[in-house]
Amino acid sequence: MGRAAVIGCGDISIVHFEAIGAISDVTLVAVCDLDPALAKAAGDRWGVPAYTDHRALLELEQVDVVHVCTPHDQHAQVAIDCLRAGVAVLTEKPLAATVVEAERVVAAAAEHPQVKIGVCFQNRYNATVEAIRDAIDRGAGTLIGGHATVMWHRTPAYYAARRWRGRMASSGGGVLINQAIHTLDLLQWLLGDVVSVGAQVSGGRIGPGIDVEDTATLILDHATGARSVFVATNANVVDSPVALEIDTERASFFVRDDLTIRHVDGRIEKVAERRVETAGRGYWGVSHQRLIADFYARLDEPEPFWISPGEATKSLRIIAAAYEASGFGRPGR
Ligand SMILES: NC(=O)c1ccc[n+]([C@@H]2O[C@H](COP(=O)([O-])OP(=O)(O)OC[C@H]3O[C@@H](n4cnc5c(N)ncnc54)[C@H](O)[C@@H]3O)[C@@H](O)[C@H]2O)c1
Repeated sequence: MGRAAVIGCGDISIVHFEAIGAISDVTLVAVCDLDPALAKAAGDRWGVPAYTDHRALLELEQVDVVHVCTPHDQHAQVAIDCLRAGVAVLTEKPLAATVVEAERVVAAAAEHPQVKIGVCFQNRYNATVEAIRDAIDRGAGTLIGGHATVMWHRTPAYYAARRWRGRMASSGGGVLINQAIHTLDLLQWLLGDVVSVGAQVSGGRIGPGIDVEDTATLILDHATGARSVFVATNANVVDSPVALEIDTERASFFVRDDLTIRHVDGRIEKVAERRVETAGRGYWGVSHQRLIADFYARLDEPEPFWISPGEATKSLRIIAAAYEASGFGRPGR
């Protein structure tokens, strides 16, 4: 079904290598990392040629799908080069470091409609989230609102280990774009497109040399009329489980590990989240493999992949609006 290559052989790449290996008719054929030592280590580990330039890989290897696992500011150009080469792209979140770059990818995808492109918002494949989406689609009544919290712990060492993570220029942001974007994406996917954003965004809690935000509170108005509140921080003392509540006319859906549905008639239902064994970290979620397998399963379908560049730009627009509303990043703020 496919010949795969992975570009960017850092932390998250292991999840992609693992997922590729789990699909019977997909074969890894090449890897690439700007760092020659990392590229060689991955090439040796998986027994495939290693490159330090993705354009050389695209030129010399016959590849059907490229997995983009680079830092945020390296997503857009790599994805665009793949689309132009006629190679399908599955890129890690966020689609790009900025809305402007994301729009370049959206335009390139529109120019190459025959080439598939998808974005890794794997939490949309969680059993709990699928159950909420399904209930809304089947008719859970008017959407009222909701809230979500992402209270995580990131140390100075986490930022020091990969300088790009703490720098606005390379990451495009902090907790919002790097960690909480998954949950922000879920809020907008479940409650509807966001039409206005109120926000307080701040940094400085984790250590010196980090110019991205570590904490944010957002109030979101959705086109459906729903309103939600979103709180995210990387300055918590532990990685708390993400909490997500979606309220409709007929029920309240609350996820914290598993899903509890409280119906207005008093019934209570539970939906258990899947438990999977993975080399990835627990807080990355349980559904990477499901998303990646689904991307390959849909490769030959004529329709665009459902988590498309346009869809993935929505959360980036919310984040940009939050910076705008709070003034974060402006001189003097
Ligand atoms: N979906 C998730 O839950 C999840 C979880 C963790 C990370 N991520 C995302 O995965 C991406 C990578 O994160 P990470 O923590 O693995 O970072 P990392 O720094 O550990 O790895 C990135 C690698 O890309 C390489 N690289 C940089 N520019 C490149 C280029 N132009 N061509 C080839 N290689 C290049 C770097 O040398 C590095 O080895 C980020 O977008 C991050 O947000 C997603």
